[in-house]
Amino acid sequence: MQTIDQLFVTELWEALGAEQTVAATLERLTQCQSDPRLQQAFGAHLAETRTQIDRLEQALSMLGEPATPTFCEGIQGIVDEHAAFVLKNSPSPQVHAAFDLGAAQKVEHYEMATYEHLVGLADRLGYRQIAQLLETSLTEELRQLERLGAIDLVEPVPAQQQRAVQQQRPVAQQRQHPSGQFGQR
Ligand SMILES: [Fe+2]
Repeated sequence: MQTIDQLFVTELWEALGAEQTVAATLERLTQCQSDPRLQQAFGAHLAETRTQIDRLEQALSMLGEPATPTFCEGIQGIVDEHAAFVLKNSPSPQVHAAFDLGAAQKVEHYEMATYEHLVGLADRLGYRQIAQLLETSLTEELRQLERLGAIDLVEPVPAQQQRAVQQQRPVAQQRQHPSGQFGQR
């Protein structure tokens, strides 16, 4: 690949693949979600995600390119991580919902980074209309992140019951652990 134009199109294809994976995952999660607040947030964003797919197809069409989605390893990684967690931990409904929320927040951050990058590229390449189109999707991702952040699934510990935590060793000391990892807990 030699040009930024080629990079832009390739990244649009990948974003299309990512949004298709997100739509399929949201469809599944909306059906099996036990928490009504999460179910509502996932359902609302599923409709937005389908519109975001349309926008990416429109952007590609404006460039005279086919709407050919490619596999997005980043989003698939979050989806796989979620499935592996559930398989390994058999979480209770409350823990499952809290993990679903965290996974959904990771997806939104990933998508926001993708759209920020694409809007920046579109701008620099002189595709103002495409930049505006993708900016709308970026705003929707941010709103979904805010919607998710407002869902409080975990009862907070009252101020008078704040729990003391073990004194942590300095980070440098933790790194010297013979396992080569982050030290013992
Ligand atoms: Fe999203």
